[in-house]
Amino acid sequence: MAVASLFDAVAGSYDESRRRLVPCFDDFYGTAVEVAAPPLRRARAFGRTPTLLDLGAGTGLLSLLLAVAVPGTCPTLLDAAPAMLAVAERLLTQRGIPHRMVVADLTDALPGGPYDAVVSALAIHHLDDAGKRDLYRRIRQILCPGGVFVNAEQVAGPTPDLDHRYDEVWLAQVVALGATEAEIAAARERMAYDRPAPVADQCRWLTEAGFVGVDCFYKSWRFAVFGGRRELD
Ligand SMILES: C[S@@+](CC[C@H](N)C(=O)[O-])C[C@H]1O[C@@H](n2cnc3c(N)ncnc32)[C@H](O)[C@@H]1O
Repeated sequence: MAVASLFDAVAGSYDESRRRLVPCFDDFYGTAVEVAAPPLRRARAFGRTPTLLDLGAGTGLLSLLLAVAVPGTCPTLLDAAPAMLAVAERLLTQRGIPHRMVVADLTDALPGGPYDAVVSALAIHHLDDAGKRDLYRRIRQILCPGGVFVNAEQVAGPTPDLDHRYDEVWLAQVVALGATEAEIAAARERMAYDRPAPVADQCRWLTEAGFVGVDCFYKSWRFAVFGGRRELD
């Protein structure tokens, strides 16, 4: 799969360039942690091991943040790029965080749950819209009742003009943060495979998939954090 090979090729330097290429890094990942943490904490309070599935986990950035925020969490990291997961494996092992790695595509059957939280960051926009909607339906099925899905995602503008503006703003911000021409060119090469959708459409698809409490919790131009939860039985 072309997109996974592109990420595998940069696995060794991926983490180092993140803060330059995701200008709102702290608020973006921080909000995803705030949204996903409550059901993990609840599981812990009931004496269970909190279960987390990270889709398109890459080098494990979001899994690591959540495992630190809610100690005892056991993340399952799924990605189609084995070299990205190898970096995650090293980082999680170094910190003594128990985990499971799954090399798979987002269109494959999801690894068995149920999960207290399913999260994803900057990955689902690689699927076409039918693939996103199908994935949202499948995610709801593997959540525990009361479990949360959060997608920290790169989204499209609601109009071509706004989408163009999102890109202009992103470029100005990453240049101001010191991203090199090579980093920007490599990011652009990966972005050629992106199929982002507007946040309003994706929130509607989540509601149609049966999620409740659907909201966009954070947005800064093309970076948005949205999700919902599975109703309690
Ligand atoms: C931009 S990285 C994000 C990684 C990590 N979630 C983060 O926030 O840093 C996108 C990841 O999604 C993975 N990915 C893209 N399309 C995928 C697919 N169809 N199936 C599985 N993984 C996919 C890539 O291999 C890559 O590791």
